[in-house]
Amino acid sequence: MRVLGIETSCDETAAALVKDSRSVSANVVLTQTNLHRPYGGVVPEIASRHHAGHLPELIAKALAQSGLQWTEIDAVAATYGPGLATSLLVGLAAGKALAIRLNRPFVAVNHLEAHLLSVFLADDAPLPFDSPPMIALIASGGHTCLMRADAPGAYRLLGWTRDDAAGEAFDKGANLLGLGYPGGPAIDKAARGGNPKAVNFPRARNISGAGALDFSFSGLKTALLYHLRDNPAALPEQLADIAASYQEAIIDALLGRLEDAMDQANLQCCAAAGGVSLNSRLRTRLAELACRRGWRLLLAPPAYCGDNAAMVALVACLGLGIAGPEAFLIDACPALSLGEDE
Ligand code: KG4
Ligand code: ZN
Repeated sequence: MRVLGIETSCDETAAALVKDSRSVSANVVLTQTNLHRPYGGVVPEIASRHHAGHLPELIAKALAQSGLQWTEIDAVAATYGPGLATSLLVGLAAGKALAIRLNRPFVAVNHLEAHLLSVFLADDAPLPFDSPPMIALIASGGHTCLMRADAPGAYRLLGWTRDDAAGEAFDKGANLLGLGYPGGPAIDKAARGGNPKAVNFPRARNISGAGALDFSFSGLKTALLYHLRDNPAALPEQLADIAASYQEAIIDALLGRLEDAMDQANLQCCAAAGGVSLNSRLRTRLAELACRRGWRLLLAPPAYCGDNAAMVALVACLGLGIAGPEAFLIDACPALSLGEDE
């Protein structure tokens, strides 16, 4: 089954062709980072206009890279949520129109499910339906959640962010540190060689009861703000130490809850995906944690951590997502979740 995937949920315009569940024959991503940088974050109007202007050429480029003809595409898949409404609409409308023109099925894909399943795009990952049950951490600019995945399509949401997403915490922290947008890669780089114990930032680990696996990052951002206010001479000399300490606090929060979730579920396999899972320190610490606890770790390959369309096509290749006549009627769902009780 050859699927054309389309992704326009935020500030990446992407198209990909995926055959069965393993072979990505084209994966094209156009990021809009430069357009949004002057504003310190994504401007929805700019994002959707850019998607509309560039999606046709990206789809054509992906098709050319794959060496396939239009008639060889078996289905078209596009993200319908969560994300920015006007950005989602561009990919959704394009996907439906192409499917109608090609007389092929259209599959509406949940972006969070796509991120979660992206770990199966790694060469050494098990086949998706052969994978053991796992706890997956999905951490990006728009969402941060812990999910139990018993099999592709069978998910339960265990924890969610109460305020900022982990990527947002990186982006806002970098802004305070004068590192620009997007903040994740900038803090990752600035933190190299820094002492992660130099500043004792809060970990917000005192949530108990029903929301014990939820995240909260807004206090951390405020703590950084106060630290810089109270230590006006700290920058630029202490940049590496402050960035490393701030990054460590985010990672401790993510890994602490992942470990709690793994212990509660008593599983042997965990996974991490989404833009924040590109973080070099997070990847190292995840590998150390998995090794220490004897867990199998599935990590999304770097090319599929940030927003991309290969993960969207993969969902359809696995027979998941919303297909059939109802898929053509589906609207953009900006606040779509995954694995919540109906
Ligand atoms: O998955 P993604 O591309 O888009 C969303 O679905 O939101 O994630 C983007 C986020 C941004 O907040 C960015 O700062 C963060 O991922 N990010 C990183 C790194 N690279 C990207 N965060 C930490 N370390 C990185 N190396
Ligand atoms: Zn994403």
